[in-house]
Amino acid sequence: MQLQLGFLLFALSCLRQGLVATTDESCSVSILEGSPVYVEYGGSLVLNCTFSCENITYWDWETSLTKKVNRDGSWVSTILSNITVWESSPICFGIQNERNLQNQTTIIAYRPPTDVSIRLAEVMEVNQSYPINCSILSVAPLRNTRVTFRRGEETLHVLTFENSSTIEGIEKEVTYLHTAQETDYEKLFSCLVELDLTPQGKLFNESSSKMTVKTFALPEDPEISMATYTEEASEVTVKCWVSGVFPAEEVNLSLELNGEDLNVTVTRMADVVTAEVQVTPMQSQEYYITCNAILESKTRSATKAVYVYSFPDPLLTVIDASTKTGNNVTINCSLAETKPTSVSINVTAGGVPLSCEKDSHFQTLCVLTVQREDHAKEVVCEVQLKVSEWVTAKRTSAQLDVTYTPIFSDSSCPSAQTLVEGSSDRIRCQAEGNPTPHIRCTRDDSSYIDGRGSLTRAHLGTYVCTATNSEGLANRNVTVTVEYKPTISSIDIDPPAAITKGKIVTLQCFASGLPLPKYQWSTPKVENITYSSDNTRITIYNAQTHHSGSYTCTATNIHGSHMQEKSISVTDPVHTILAAVLGTAAGCGLVAAAIGYYLYYRAQKIRKYKLQQAQNSPTGKSLMANGGNNAVV
Ligand SMILES: *[C@@H]1O[C@H](CO)[C@@H](O)[C@H](O)[C@H]1NC(C)=O
Ligand SMILES: *[C@@H]1O[C@H](CO)[C@@H](O)[C@H](O)[C@H]1NC(C)=O
Ligand SMILES: *[C@@H]1O[C@H](CO)[C@@H](O)[C@H](O)[C@H]1NC(C)=O
Ligand SMILES: *[C@@H]1O[C@H](CO)[C@@H](O)[C@H](O)[C@H]1NC(C)=O
Ligand SMILES: *[C@@H]1O[C@H](CO)[C@@H](O)[C@H](O)[C@H]1NC(C)=O
Ligand SMILES: *[C@@H]1O[C@H](CO)[C@@H](O)[C@H](O)[C@H]1NC(C)=O
Ligand SMILES: *[C@@H]1O[C@H](CO)[C@@H](O)[C@H](O)[C@H]1NC(C)=O
Repeated sequence: MQLQLGFLLFALSCLRQGLVATTDESCSVSILEGSPVYVEYGGSLVLNCTFSCENITYWDWETSLTKKVNRDGSWVSTILSNITVWESSPICFGIQNERNLQNQTTIIAYRPPTDVSIRLAEVMEVNQSYPINCSILSVAPLRNTRVTFRRGEETLHVLTFENSSTIEGIEKEVTYLHTAQETDYEKLFSCLVELDLTPQGKLFNESSSKMTVKTFALPEDPEISMATYTEEASEVTVKCWVSGVFPAEEVNLSLELNGEDLNVTVTRMADVVTAEVQVTPMQSQEYYITCNAILESKTRSATKAVYVYSFPDPLLTVIDASTKTGNNVTINCSLAETKPTSVSINVTAGGVPLSCEKDSHFQTLCVLTVQREDHAKEVVCEVQLKVSEWVTAKRTSAQLDVTYTPIFSDSSCPSAQTLVEGSSDRIRCQAEGNPTPHIRCTRDDSSYIDGRGSLTRAHLGTYVCTATNSEGLANRNVTVTVEYKPTISSIDIDPPAAITKGKIVTLQCFASGLPLPKYQWSTPKVENITYSSDNTRITIYNAQTHHSGSYTCTATNIHGSHMQEKSISVTDPVHTILAAVLGTAAGCGLVAAAIGYYLYYRAQKIRKYKLQQAQNSPTGKSLMANGGNNAVV
């Protein structure tokens, strides 16, 4: 009945539409609740409609919903109940002068979010992506729904559905892909679902329960540190560490040696966890060290192969190590069994390889015919052991002791030696020999230079030095020269006395000394002094009174010098006679008178004679003087 009426009115309004449009008369139909109008699904609501003009002949609400209409004056209201249509559009209409007036609104049924729940992994590995699911049992309309993924108070992600055309209430599950971070550790994750009907309606929200997560990081494989090659029964440190881990306290780091757990000491520093243990492998073999780092569901491992070898020290015996020159010395280098067995044995004496016979795999015998030069040489037995690609060596050594007779050498006992008188010099003579030789140097007369007293030139001569040890003796002639400083024995003057003006005078200096001394003279500062080529002699050809004075001879060699002084006096004979005459004149008056007469008489005769002679002589004056002297004698 209602439906029929509605249809009738609708038909009428269509018919009159053209007519209304042509009239200028305006009349508006208003719905007070606006559009859209939200109502909870299954709920009820009141809609009010008013007309701005009078004389409305009929008015009503046209809807398929269950309605209860109230009319009064210029308005009409309806109570719509049990709204189970998700979207509907009731029309308010009126008829005025066969004109149809109308307006409509939209009713949207909503359903607040219910039973919101979150689902995510409880444990997450850092940097891996994990879905976080948020499910809503029911919500409508979807386009007003907003889902927010939260970590604590922080928003991770927001999802909206503004373009959704779904109007009915639905069950919805949304997913957000989250990249786990270290900072997620023990944070509360939740999802918040909001139904935003503002401004027309309310804002509903519903949160899921909060869930905590654990995160972890084990980004790298562990690293193992252990000596690759280790000697059997020696203690070695095995270390394993893993870096960049989180949380470090929860990392379980273990070490295995050939599958057997080791009792490790674990230390944690920041994001590095280290396991350490001392092991003493007793078996020579290849071992595998495995390090396992376990964190949550993740395991990371590393393995390292190590080699344990057995390598005893080589045993070196030198049979007759102490022997005479020319004898055979047997060198025995043996080795207890090694593991692995790849060994090579090398025996050297003084660094030179010996030729040896390998008696067995681990034993080498070498024979060395020793010479003097082999004395004190080091015999070394070196064994190399090859373990996998690696080589290690051990060595044992012994010293040779070769006895031999003494020998002299030019350097240890020079055959010509120069010593210095008065010094503590002794003959330098040593000899090589084993045992250390005893040395004694003697002269023909059985004397030898001992440590007592000082050395004199009498010690010169040829000595026989004898070096003696248990193996024999050796002789060597040593010529000893003793050097000494100069001594001037004399300075001879010729003529020895009464040097008169014009005479030739020589001074000869005599000195001993070794090496032969060099001579030097110190004389009055005058000319006409001639030196011999060796400087030992001075000659004054024409002595004058100014040559009188002191003459000093100095003899010098590397060991010292010596000087001696002599004085000469050159006299003028004229002065001498005059002085003599003057001195005696007084006392001899009478005698003089008598002689004077005689002289006068003689002079007269001699002058005649001399004048005859002088014609053949260049130095008449000198001859005359001589003549005078002679005449006196
Ligand atoms: C909804 O559609 C508009 C226009 O097509 C677009 O710009 C917008 O990004 C869409 N929103 C969503 C959440 O898809
Ligand atoms: C995570 O990724 C970042 C960027 O690639 C990197 O720097 C960081 O080391 C990673 N962390 C872990 C624990 O893998
Ligand atoms: C580490 O692993 C060992 C063996 O798997 C286990 O006995 C031990 O409890 C673990 N420790 C930690 C701290 O997880
Ligand atoms: C491991 O080492 C600790 C301390 O070094 C020691 O107390 C413990 O007995 C050891 N456990 C085993 C099984 O050797
Ligand atoms: C030393 O050995 C060599 C061969 O190695 C041998 O010819 C020689 O006769 C031996 N000498 C002595 C003194 O035994
Ligand atoms: C060499 O020395 C080893 C070990 O001392 C010994 O067993 C072996 O008999 C020796 N060989 C000879 C030939 O002396
Ligand atoms: C040493 O001198 C003596 C006598 O001059 C001589 O017989 C001897 O052969 C010399 N000895 C040496 C080792 O030269």
